[in-house]
Amino acid sequence: MHVGIIMDGNGRWATRRGLARLIGHKRGAQQVKKIVKSCPDLGVDTLTLYAFSTENWKRAAHEVAGLMKLFRGYLANNLVELHGKNVRVRFLGDPAPLPDDILKLMDNLATLTHDNTGLNLNIAINYGGRDELVRAAKAITREAIAGRLDVDSISEDTISAFLDTNGQKDPDLIIRTAGELRLSNFMTWQSAYSEFAFLEESWPEFSPEIFAQTLQNFRQRTRQFGAVLPKGASIAE
Ligand code: IPE
Ligand code: IPE
Ligand code: MG
Repeated sequence: MHVGIIMDGNGRWATRRGLARLIGHKRGAQQVKKIVKSCPDLGVDTLTLYAFSTENWKRAAHEVAGLMKLFRGYLANNLVELHGKNVRVRFLGDPAPLPDDILKLMDNLATLTHDNTGLNLNIAINYGGRDELVRAAKAITREAIAGRLDVDSISEDTISAFLDTNGQKDPDLIIRTAGELRLSNFMTWQSAYSEFAFLEESWPEFSPEIFAQTLQNFRQRTRQFGAVLPKGASIAE
């Protein structure tokens, strides 16, 4: 099962406690470790974490710099443990505007863990669902112009294959913490038939227990993908 998480509410969590927003982000980064670790026991084989959106550059320069510093720390400090736990790490989003040293850390982690067969962990950094579609449209157009792709053969599968999630299944469940009821540009294409869980808890308050409870609620739902099913039936994930 694929779960996407919009990790929201770090700033408010800190502000409520009279702390700087960056302290909330720091707590948020610690949460990531716990949640990643809990996935295998909870039946989650793919986890996509929304860490930084294409719109998050609009924040104050010191907040953006602080977030970059946290990414740097997370990527450098977790490389050995993630690899040791057989996690395969991939990154979603446009890497181009990210600092060179972060790009190198991302590349190292993705390369090192490439053949791992445990949890698939996608980290979305400078990710926007619309930006992803624009980049896919450009890549598809280039292939067509070069004569490698017949325009009439373009299907939903073609578009899926050109997205950053290339080849991965769509999220079964998208969780957003901290009470906002929106996607904020997360997985625009891939979320077409996702289930949603909008939680009141902020990301620093989210825990493996809340995660387990949210998954249990999700498993009660009927997913029919447009079909009409007999009572009690559901189309499996
Ligand atoms: C989510 O927390 C982390 C990022 C977007 C990077 P926020 O920073 O958005 O926290 P709130 O929503 O302001 O509380
Ligand atoms: C979405 O949260 C992005 C991430 C969690 C990385 P935001 O806090 O940026 O979203 P808005 O601005 O409230 O829509
Ligand atoms: Mg927010």
